[in-house]
Amino acid sequence: MLKNQLIKLCFLLLCFNSSVACSAVTTQSSTQANTQSTSQSKGTVLITGANRGLGLALSRHFIADGYKVIGTARKPHKATDLKAAGAQVVQLDVTDDESIAAMAKTLQGVAIDIVVNNAGYVNDYTRGIESFKKSTREEYLRTYNINTVGPVLVAKALYPNLLLSKASVKKLVNTSSQGGIVDRKGTHAIYAYDTSKTALNKLTNELAKDLKADNITVISLAPGWNKTRTGGEGARLEPEVSMAQAKKVIESLTIENTGTFVTYSGRSVKW
Ligand SMILES: NC(=O)c1ccc[n+]([C@@H]2O[C@H](COP(=O)([O-])OP(=O)(O)OC[C@H]3O[C@@H](n4cnc5c(N)ncnc54)[C@H](OP(=O)(O)O)[C@@H]3O)[C@@H](O)[C@H]2O)c1
Repeated sequence: MLKNQLIKLCFLLLCFNSSVACSAVTTQSSTQANTQSTSQSKGTVLITGANRGLGLALSRHFIADGYKVIGTARKPHKATDLKAAGAQVVQLDVTDDESIAAMAKTLQGVAIDIVVNNAGYVNDYTRGIESFKKSTREEYLRTYNINTVGPVLVAKALYPNLLLSKASVKKLVNTSSQGGIVDRKGTHAIYAYDTSKTALNKLTNELAKDLKADNITVISLAPGWNKTRTGGEGARLEPEVSMAQAKKVIESLTIENTGTFVTYSGRSVKW
């Protein structure tokens, strides 16, 4: 009788142990799949509009420091500098829902630690009253589509990827501009561009509240005035220099920083 009970107990224990082992293996393998890139690197960063300008410079800095970078480009076959830098290149036009869906499908199940909404567009450099008189509906809508609607839809598409991240804090960085400051003294606006960034800042503020429970810190980043196609040749900063600082700022973000607006050098900016 006692012998039978002992045999039964041993059997139950064996089953229990093997089921724990099995479930541990299952959990481990799915975790490995989800965090494969992060286990082999310092983390995975996705940067939109990474084929040139600030996105390319930021990609290079993250790659040089051992991160896996997924850089998006509207025309991947032309993103030779981004490929040469060592990024995985994924097609993305932020104004095209099919393109956003295809990117999300390509990246399904991939844990992403940091998303940088960098892609942007400036319609014109006219400021103040001239900008007000000149800007058309078409220009406003195109600019808002790329600079405002694009980032929030990209964030929505990649939200599941951020949730898969095992990083202590996940990050969503919206590349904004000091032109987006509501009451900016001493300068007049490029109407469509500056107001598209103001709206982006409001999205940052709302997303920060709504994604805090998921441990996702959301900020707006003012990258400074840089020598790129958007910034122009007369700009003050070299992208390699400003983006080296921006990378450090992004790395140092904690959940306490969520809902803030900071410059590439980490200085706080008023909304
Ligand atoms: N440079 C500055 O002084 C400055 C100052 C303040 C803020 N910013 C912001 O910083 C970010 C990067 O600007 P940047 O200076 O690096 O500009 P950039 O050199 O002109 O690069 C813009 C990037 O955005 C991409 N892009 C444009 N429209 C897109 C779309 N519909 N879908 C996907 N990608 C698109 C471009 O791709 P294509 O090559 O295919 O056109 C390019 O990769 C922007 O958000 C900009 O507003 C820049």
